[in-house]
Amino acid sequence: MQPHIQNMTGSYIRNILKAATKAEVISLAGGLPDIELLPKAVLEHIAYQQMSDSNLFQYGESAGYLPLREWIADEQQCHIDQLIITNGAQQGLDLVTRCLLRHRERIVVEAPAYLGATQVFNLQNLTIDWLPQLGDCNQLEHLEAAFKRAKVFYCVPNFHNPTGSLWSLALRKAVVALAEQHQVTIIEDAPYEALSFSDHQLPSLYQMAPNNVIKLGSFSKSIAPGLRTGYCLASPGASKQLLKAKQAMDLHSSNINQALTYGFVSSKSYKPHLKNIRQTYSIRMAALIDALSGLENVKVEPVQGGMFLWARLIGRDADTVTKAALETYNLAIVPGRAFMPVHDTAADEFVRLNFTNAEPSLINEAVDRLAQAMDAG
Ligand SMILES: Cc1ncc(COP(=O)(O)O)c(C=O)c1O
Repeated sequence: MQPHIQNMTGSYIRNILKAATKAEVISLAGGLPDIELLPKAVLEHIAYQQMSDSNLFQYGESAGYLPLREWIADEQQCHIDQLIITNGAQQGLDLVTRCLLRHRERIVVEAPAYLGATQVFNLQNLTIDWLPQLGDCNQLEHLEAAFKRAKVFYCVPNFHNPTGSLWSLALRKAVVALAEQHQVTIIEDAPYEALSFSDHQLPSLYQMAPNNVIKLGSFSKSIAPGLRTGYCLASPGASKQLLKAKQAMDLHSSNINQALTYGFVSSKSYKPHLKNIRQTYSIRMAALIDALSGLENVKVEPVQGGMFLWARLIGRDADTVTKAALETYNLAIVPGRAFMPVHDTAADEFVRLNFTNAEPSLINEAVDRLAQAMDAG
């Protein structure tokens, strides 16, 4: 095995999730939709209807199932040739970084970062050029310095994982302008885009600079992660190149999963489903904020969508609290350090709390357990 593979660690979160499957554990650890809110009955009905289409059992196009690409092209206002269906945004990330970068080349990434992205970058032996998270336009000098060293920037502007933050319009404009100026390609990872609590949508970076941004979308958070269906949206020139790589990687994504996804997004159930999960998740987020407001040594801000809150446990070591929470109080949460570069202590007091996968009564119980773990730690 190559040394960079030997040096990789498995996902810390996946290990916590494994421990969190015990019935007595309340988990605010994963980035999971509530299984009760998955549109299972409708998907079952669509699957039953679609199984009569023999073509779905045959090989398909590498770019993906045409009706789904047409639906996405309409939604994203692009040409179908700019779209490649991927096995979730995760495969999109693998695909795009493989095509843009060679081993040891630099990719600029904000810290904290989505762990699955860091894993892809490590798998490809890239050099990660870490940057403190861009809260607003005041920190752009760090970004500009990084753009002088690297040619690719990975970011999650909508409801970031783990912090839940949403980039303002001003920040989007500034980052896109800076990237164009320095000829940096942006990978815009947008799996949480559909989980906005408000109807007011900010433009994607892709919309602002379609020749300079490659966008990764996903149906994992809005329909079901088990579909493993997402897409990559790029300029016509870039898509042509990416398609060759997708072909080499796995020929194409599963026709059956793509057809199921298409069947659901094009059904009359899709919009009410989205409305329902957005409303439910926003109520749960408010319940978690409310419960945490009773703890004087926790600092947390509400978010406008997505699945996570990023809470500061003032004066506490989050690793110690997390361990006590799981081992003694049956509460699974993820310490901030899991999302940071090695030796970076900036998130040592932070935890990521998921609010989508537990009902408000469980959320209150979870916060009680967190309080006890903090008192013990
Ligand atoms: C920021 C981010 N990108 C990508 C993914 C992977 O999503 P998918 O299920 O579409 O592969 C996740 C999953 O949690 C995520 O949080």
